[in-house]
Amino acid sequence: MKPIIQGNVAKNCHPEGLLKAIDKQIAYVESHGEIYGPKKVLVIGASSGYGLASRIALAFGGGADTIGVSFEKGPGEKGAGSAGWYNNVLFQRRASEKGLIAKNFIADAFSDTTRQNVIDFIQQEFGGKIDLVVYSIASGIRIHPDGTRYQSTLGVCGQAFSGPGFELESQRMVEQTLEPVTKQQLADTVKVMGGEDWQRWITMLEQADVLATGFKTVAYSYIGPESTWPLYKDGSLGAAKAHLHNTADEINAQLQRISGNAYAVACKALVTKASAFIPVFPLYITLLYKVMKQKRLHETCIEQMHRLMLDHLYPPLGNVITDAQRLIRMDDYELRPDVQNVVELLRKQVTADNFKVIGDFAGYLQEFHELNGFGMAGVDYSDELDINTLVKEYSLA
Ligand code: NAI
Repeated sequence: MKPIIQGNVAKNCHPEGLLKAIDKQIAYVESHGEIYGPKKVLVIGASSGYGLASRIALAFGGGADTIGVSFEKGPGEKGAGSAGWYNNVLFQRRASEKGLIAKNFIADAFSDTTRQNVIDFIQQEFGGKIDLVVYSIASGIRIHPDGTRYQSTLGVCGQAFSGPGFELESQRMVEQTLEPVTKQQLADTVKVMGGEDWQRWITMLEQADVLATGFKTVAYSYIGPESTWPLYKDGSLGAAKAHLHNTADEINAQLQRISGNAYAVACKALVTKASAFIPVFPLYITLLYKVMKQKRLHETCIEQMHRLMLDHLYPPLGNVITDAQRLIRMDDYELRPDVQNVVELLRKQVTADNFKVIGDFAGYLQEFHELNGFGMAGVDYSDELDINTLVKEYSLA
């Protein structure tokens, strides 16, 4: 079996390889310090990227029971299913082996029915109130509970922005353009990727009285260096993230009754299914990886999330570590001037002929493949996958 990529989107995955990738993340957290943190956790967007890494860090680094919500496809008539589906099943398998509760809801996180189903589970089966909600959704579409369908648009505010990016399928550098968004597109992107849905989750959970005293919630954001601002921070996604930051303050005030806190977390740029989709951005990631690896500062999702939980959200002295705007800064290494100065130097040298060696293209590709269970040592990729066997072996408990 070989990885199939269309544009920058993976079209297949390998369950055995995904198990190896999950085991690798588990091995990392089990050997890098115990998290003295939450024991009952809800992760919204739990099946891949930052959400999955948060779940692994908290379960295997801190002994937490977890509920995961995600939107994934299982194996069946329409094909072998998505990587996230297998991640849910495999996470559950490993967590059960440890005696931990790991419940998966494969459902639309934007729907009130999903929220109610999760609340019912917490009240009837989970065995305790929630200590932490991680909100880690990356989506292009949101169906609001009132039935309105919102679509997000990756675009800029102001003049169009063009820059070099690359296509994974052809492994070629291409000029990519982010077009200006209309006011409506901007507002819709904020509806999808801003903080409204996060707040709706917390409000419903709080009203149902399933949040523990001292409860915390985090949602993930990106700010990035100035060189990326035209395409991210000052664009439609950045507007959504600014809304998320404001929502963190609103939720924080709302939670005072139960001595709770809400934080937006500015994370590092990393290879995930979602970030591969943003024009120009993956090229920046290859340059960043090159420099951060050289300086021994590189972190993948699991290293970021383990450090977040261990040092920032549940530090030994108890006080959550934030900046003056109450943001938790996990992008501290990425934004170091010594890192960004070299990234800038490299950026100026990039051409279509050298982009694979100027940046860490090989490292990017390896992490991308790993997200889909490819390129993992010890897996025999020559075996055919049989859908009926997959259905039998990888169903959700
Ligand atoms: P990802 O694509 O790996 O994960 C997204 C998750 O959202 C998956 O579990 C998916 O199933 C779930 N999801 C999407 N739509 C859903 C729906 N309607 N209902 C239920 N679940 C749904 O993405 P990634 O990169 O881990 O992103 C998570 C968050 O982290 C996003 O808010 C993103 O902006 C943020 N972030 C990502 C960075 C990066 O470089 N990858 C950097 C900084 C922040």
